[in-house]
Amino acid sequence: MSPFDSAQGRSTRTRQSTSDETTHAHRAIAACRRLATCSDEPGCTTRLFLSNAARAVLDELSEWMTRIGMAVRIDAAGNLRGLYEGTSPGTPRLLIGSHLDTVPHAGAFDGVLGVVLGVTLVEMLGGRRFPFAIEVVGFSEEEGVRFGVPFIGSRALVGTLDAALLARRDAHGSSVADALRGFGLDPSRLTDARVGEALGYLEIHIEQGPVLDKLGIPLGVVNAIVGQTRANVVFIGEAAHAGTTPMHVRRDALAAAAEWIVSIETSARRVDGLVATVGRVEVEPGAGNVVAGRCRLPLDIRHPRDDVRRAAAESARRHAVEIASRRRLTVEWEAVLDQPSVAMDGRFASMLERSVEESGFPIHVMPSGAGHDAMILAARMPAAMLFVRSPGGVSHHPAESVTEADVAAALNAGLRFLDALAASHRRSS
Ligand code: GLV
Ligand code: MN
Ligand code: MN
Repeated sequence: MSPFDSAQGRSTRTRQSTSDETTHAHRAIAACRRLATCSDEPGCTTRLFLSNAARAVLDELSEWMTRIGMAVRIDAAGNLRGLYEGTSPGTPRLLIGSHLDTVPHAGAFDGVLGVVLGVTLVEMLGGRRFPFAIEVVGFSEEEGVRFGVPFIGSRALVGTLDAALLARRDAHGSSVADALRGFGLDPSRLTDARVGEALGYLEIHIEQGPVLDKLGIPLGVVNAIVGQTRANVVFIGEAAHAGTTPMHVRRDALAAAAEWIVSIETSARRVDGLVATVGRVEVEPGAGNVVAGRCRLPLDIRHPRDDVRRAAAESARRHAVEIASRRRLTVEWEAVLDQPSVAMDGRFASMLERSVEESGFPIHVMPSGAGHDAMILAARMPAAMLFVRSPGGVSHHPAESVTEADVAAALNAGLRFLDALAASHRRSS
């Protein structure tokens, strides 16, 4: 059975959190809401990779980490790294983290909650040490908004931030390497960002969907993360005068794009579990009285099964070619990402399930439809994810939220996970 088929509910006990967890949950939520005011745009939360707002978040979190005794650095990819040593210096480390960048007009919890809870867990230890170090990582880029490619921060840790990716350009023509230099970082030192020997990676993240909310339970343990295809598609026609150009001679790039977007939606609806999205349209020259000459669109396709996702991407490409040729246009297709689905580590996931159960909360094992840094880290180390219920399933939206009780539940389970890992580490060494 594929992990994507095995979502299940078990145990129905519930418990009250301690006042310590509740206090820390309250503070963690307040910290996320405060960090959400660090934005590239006033009045909303938009925080792109290596922006001024990203710097403000790094400053605030660094100050907190330093205050509670962590050794802090910003690595060459702009990731925040806070190290809390184990019982002796140089012990292997457990990574806990998530990302600090956001989508445009985001909520306050996607990504940043996982970083804030990592620091909160260390703070709750009150100086207690484990036979392993804890490194809290705030990944600089996960969403793929600025350069169209996601997971730049976590790729630096696993050593796959390569020359082609460093040369990618944003909408203003800056490459990733330029952006790193502009932030005061040195792209030639990227090997410094690589993670050495590690026990594993734990990511706490809001679910971003409605499953836990519908079940009425606070936490979920992730068994697998669905794969993603991302591509950039450009329809190229001919700009023309909107008043004088008869309909039958037009080569309208936006009309072609519109037909294609609807075909993507129609096709995806026919395949169980398939989601396909065009979330942006860039039109040139972009005036109401000019027939569009060029239209650029990002495509995002996801499915638990990689063969189904890849077949859908190929069908979308064929549709684009067919629509363009029927309308006397050309089309360019740039493949940006073919990220296979990834299973979480079985041992870590079981330890997380036990931690949730010992905390007194029901266990629910589920796949993630959203992408996460855990899918990149999983190539190098055991990776596990704990989901926190998203009220109303709302995410990638300013109304995204969490409850204090659910965050307290995550902290309780997180502390138990650390204890369980320590016990297992002692047994095996
Ligand atoms: C990240 O939020 C993604 O799944 O796109
Ligand atoms: Mn996101
Ligand atoms: Mn996220």
